[in-house]
Amino acid sequence: MNTTSTPRHVISVFGLGRVGLITAVCFARRGYKVIGIDPDNHKLDRIRSGEPLFFEPGLHDYTKAAISNGLLTVTNDPLANTGSDLSYLTVGTPSNLDGSINLDYLKNATASVGKSIRKSSTYQTVVIKSTVTPGTARNVVRPILESESGKSVGLEFGLCSNPEFLREGSAIHDAEFPDRIVIGSNDMKSIDNMETFYKELHGEHTPTVIRTSHENAELIKYANNAFLALKVSFINSIANITERVPGADVKTIATGIGLDNRIGPKFLNAGLGWGGSCLPKDLKELSSYSKTLGYDFTLIEAAIRVNDYQKQRAVEIAQMKLGSLIGKRIAILGLSFKPGTDDMRDAVSVPIIEGLLARGATVVAFDPAAVRNARGIFGNKIAYATDPMNCISGADCAIIVTEWPEFDISPSMFLKLMRYPMVIDGRRVYEAELFIRSGIDFSAIGLGT
Ligand code: UGA
Repeated sequence: MNTTSTPRHVISVFGLGRVGLITAVCFARRGYKVIGIDPDNHKLDRIRSGEPLFFEPGLHDYTKAAISNGLLTVTNDPLANTGSDLSYLTVGTPSNLDGSINLDYLKNATASVGKSIRKSSTYQTVVIKSTVTPGTARNVVRPILESESGKSVGLEFGLCSNPEFLREGSAIHDAEFPDRIVIGSNDMKSIDNMETFYKELHGEHTPTVIRTSHENAELIKYANNAFLALKVSFINSIANITERVPGADVKTIATGIGLDNRIGPKFLNAGLGWGGSCLPKDLKELSSYSKTLGYDFTLIEAAIRVNDYQKQRAVEIAQMKLGSLIGKRIAILGLSFKPGTDDMRDAVSVPIIEGLLARGATVVAFDPAAVRNARGIFGNKIAYATDPMNCISGADCAIIVTEWPEFDISPSMFLKLMRYPMVIDGRRVYEAELFIRSGIDFSAIGLGT
C-alpha cells in the first residue's frame, strides 16, 4: 500500500469499535488525516497507546503507526469533526430484546455530526457505515442532520449509505481490498463524491461500485449476511442427514455441490453453527423488520432454528457416547466465534459450555486469543488451559469448537494425553479415516457412522 500520497480529504469516524477503528486506521495507512471520535475514554487511551481493546490480525501495527505518524488522532469531543469533509458513522446498532434494531447510538452520533455541520463552512458528506434497516437514512438520519445543522441535504451537505462487509479475522485485508463498494444516496453529488474518494483510495484495486438508493444499500447488507447464514444452515442440515447415513460425509457433498459455479464452495463448511456479532443480530433484525412490513420471513426463522439446534450437537454427541456427563472432564478447543478473533459475542462455545456444565461436566478450555473474554463470561466456572496439549491432558472428551490452526494435533497426541481418547470434531478439521484407524473414539459433524 502506498503511504506517501498526499490525499486531500480530512475524515472523521464516529464510533471506534471494530468497524470504526479498522476503517480509521486503513484510511490513515493511505495517508489521510483521520479524527476518531468515541465517548469511551478507556478505549481512546488504549488506541493512543497503540493497544486496541480487541484483537484483529494486523490492527496493532496499523494503530501504532497511525498514532505515531500523527495521521490518526482520537478524541471524545463530538464536535471534533467540524473541519472534516467526510464523516463516517460506524457506531453499533444492537438488537432490542424483540429483535428490532436499536438506533440510540446512531441517533446520538448523527446529532453531533449535524451540530458540527452547522458550525462548519466545509461541504461535508456524511457516510452511514453502521448496519441499519431500510429507511433509516431517509427517515431517521436525514431529519436529525437537517434539524441539527439547519442545512439541507444534497445542497449544503451530502448523505450516503455505504455498508461494510469486513469479516473479523481478515478485516484489514477486506477494508483494503473490498469485493464491491455499495454507495446509496438520493443525491448524485454525494454518490459522485464517494465514488471519486474510493477510486482515489483503492486505485487500480477499486472493485465494482454499485450506485443505488439508500434503501437498496441498506438492504444489500442484510441480504448479504442473511444469505451467508442460510448457506451455512443449509449445509448443517445436510450434515444432520449424512450423520444418519452410513458411508455419507457432508465434506464430500459440500465439495460436490460447491464445484457447481452457481453455488460456489464458500460458506459450505458444516460445523457447530454460526455466531458472532453480525450474523445472529442481522438475521433477527431482518426478520423483525420483515414483520413490520407484514411479511413473515420464514426462511430466516428456519435458518435460526437450524442454528440453535446445531449449537447443541456437540453436547448431544458427548452425552450419547459417554452416558452421564457428571464428573467427566471435557476439553473445549476454541472459544471465539471463529478463528482469527478474540470475539465471543454469540459464540457457539457459550451454549456448548453452558450445556456441559448443566449436565455436571468439568470443563477446561483453550483459545489462542479469547481466554480474556471467556473469563468475563464464565469466571472460575471453568478452567483455562495455557495451550492445546495442556487442555486435552486427562480429558474424557475433546470438542473442536473453533478451527484455529493451533489445533493441528496428531491422533497419537490425543491417545497419549487424554484419559479416554474421545474426539468430537465440530469443525471438520481432522482426517476422519486417520483418527478412526488410530483407535480414537471419533465423531464429526456430518460424518455418517
Ligand atoms: C460477517 C460477514 O461475513 C461480513 O461480510 C460482514 O461484514 C460482517 O459479518 C458484519 O456484518 O460486520 P463475520 O461476523 O466476521 O462476518 O463472520 P463470518 O466469516 O461471516 O462467519 C460467521 C459465522 O459463520 C462464524 O461463526 C463461522 O464459524 C460460521 N461459518 C462460516 C460456518 O460455520 N461455516 C462456513 O462455511 C462459514
